[in-house]
Amino acid sequence: MKPDDTTYSKLIKAAQKARDNAYAPYSGLSVGAAVLTDKGIFTGVNVENASYGLSMCAERTAVFNAVAAGARTITAVAVAGGNQEPLPPCGACRQVLAEFNPGMECLLIGASGETRQYNLSELLAHPFLSTHLAK
Ligand code: THU
Repeated sequence: MKPDDTTYSKLIKAAQKARDNAYAPYSGLSVGAAVLTDKGIFTGVNVENASYGLSMCAERTAVFNAVAAGARTITAVAVAGGNQEPLPPCGACRQVLAEFNPGMECLLIGASGETRQYNLSELLAHPFLSTHLAK
């Protein structure tokens, strides 16, 4: 955990609570996410669709929610979900998270509370960033 276990505990609880609102009637896999930002904590859930490919992951919902509220820097993300093991964010979510800090901490929480912590740079090496865009 660290840097500030209390804040991280709050972030984890927020992700776990958000998970109750996941909309996952097709996969049955409910996921909640919470991001710690310069404007506070924002949550998200996975939102599935009858047109399966339109479904959205919890992590991206949380990021978009935070950005819509004016946040621009994310220092940590907590992801609560999975049937047992902590759920690793999918590749698309890793890339979207990296936009707002490729070095953020990722707290992955399993069904029984088991926590795995990674730096995003471990989960997504060499992200595509704004610095790669031609000026
Ligand atoms: N899911 C997430 O919410 N986050 C991930 O990083 C992986 C997958 C959701 C999407 C879909 O609603 C369900 O899990 C099954 O793929």
